[in-house]
Amino acid sequence: MALTLKGCCMVRPNEATWCGRLPLSEWDQIGTITHVPTIYFYHKPTSLHTSTIINTLKDSLSRVLVPFYPLAGRLHWINNGRLELECNAMGAQFIEAESSSTLEEVGDLSLSSEYLYHLSPNVDYTLPIHELPLFIVQFTTFKCGGFGLSLAISHAIADGQSALHFINEWSRFARGEALEMVPFLDRKVLRAGEPPLAPLPAGHGRSEFENPPLLLGQSTNMEQRKKKTTVEFFKLSKQEVDGLRNLANLSWGNPSNGRGYTRYETVAGHVWRSACKAREHKNDQPTCLGVCVDSRCRMKPPLPKGYFGNATLDVVATSLSGDLVSRPLGYASSRIREAIEKVTDEYIKSEIEFLKNQQDLSRFQDLHAMRSDKGPFYGNPNMGVVSWLTLPVNGLDFGWGKEVQMYPGTHEFDGDSVLLPGLDTDGSVVLAICLQVDHMDAFRKHFYQDESC
Ligand code: COA
Repeated sequence: MALTLKGCCMVRPNEATWCGRLPLSEWDQIGTITHVPTIYFYHKPTSLHTSTIINTLKDSLSRVLVPFYPLAGRLHWINNGRLELECNAMGAQFIEAESSSTLEEVGDLSLSSEYLYHLSPNVDYTLPIHELPLFIVQFTTFKCGGFGLSLAISHAIADGQSALHFINEWSRFARGEALEMVPFLDRKVLRAGEPPLAPLPAGHGRSEFENPPLLLGQSTNMEQRKKKTTVEFFKLSKQEVDGLRNLANLSWGNPSNGRGYTRYETVAGHVWRSACKAREHKNDQPTCLGVCVDSRCRMKPPLPKGYFGNATLDVVATSLSGDLVSRPLGYASSRIREAIEKVTDEYIKSEIEFLKNQQDLSRFQDLHAMRSDKGPFYGNPNMGVVSWLTLPVNGLDFGWGKEVQMYPGTHEFDGDSVLLPGLDTDGSVVLAICLQVDHMDAFRKHFYQDESC
């Protein structure tokens, strides 16, 4: 697919906004601190010229950047792998491009990650971090008149919930509506910028999270990190999800709390089992699955509505691969539930305290981790399944109708995956998953053909 760049500009807030340095919370500064891309595809509206669409997008963006002014700022390294946000109204980047393809050629779920790569803004992480815009838009027109809107948001500023809050408010402004929920910008509710309360007691650590299991027989994860990976999308219909859910609920004792397993616990369990099979682990291979948990409603008191920043933390479910594969699906779901249930107010506060006590946060950051030996790695024999199932990812209407297709961007790390609702509000679920090239065919077979599905 040939792509021609047609223009690039900075869109700044259209009113004066607060300027100065804003401390970030520990959660803003760990894990993914690169940009997270999503792409929305639209048919060409019959009555609107492309230039009108672009002007509407830019104008509404400049207005929504007033209440969401942190996204118009820039990050700065301070010390010990720590970051601060400079609110300076430098603006968001708006790129215009033209593709030689049609929407039909790119807009279905078999789209390869190579296409997505071309349609997403290319962020140069070799530049100093304070030169990188925190929100980058790429508007790509196709030969047929349809277009793609790629949105890349710095994960150091907003987690999925906050990113979608911002994007949905932007679309409301474009439609001529008012702000629905004011973003809550004071990160001090997560003790941003404050020192630790006390030194950590001896032996306190997050060993299971920091040192995920290695493949048996290997003393480092170096070999696995370097394997070539690929991204694929898998769809499960509502009937398939319900079938898996029944199976999980009936197959392994009674779920704790008397609550049946959720779609997330069920499908993530199925993904974990399928990956263990595809990777052909030995029975005694330890494996873990990382779960990203939103702390907003789990804290006491809950975080203020509209909290804008990162409020998620990762926990891990653990098992032996042999147990996951030989026991029914409900076993995998029960391991995942057990991990999620750990996340209480007390647990959240101790996690924050743990990070505050770290001399240096670099080893928790993925900025330099792509195909290198640094940063967290959750590839073979492990997995991460992030839920976007409850986030408002679909139905993004800027005034010319909803998208015809939406793609989540995944990072090309082995084992990285996202679960999101299918486009048609028909109860279907889509999995976007990155695995080693050598494992993808077997994963597809197990994911779809196992007797359990
Ligand atoms: N809107 C609609 N449904 C909701 C909802 C919301 N805001 N919040 C919860 N629900 C539904 C869920 O869909 C689920 O029902 P289902 O089984 O039919 O899907 C049920 O209520 C229970 O949800 P929850 O308690 O959240 O459990 P879960 O097993 O679905 O998810 C977690 C577990 C840990 C993944 C989830 O609680 C969580 O924290 N999600 C946020 C993840 C996130 O922030 N992702 C972006 C990362 S950048």
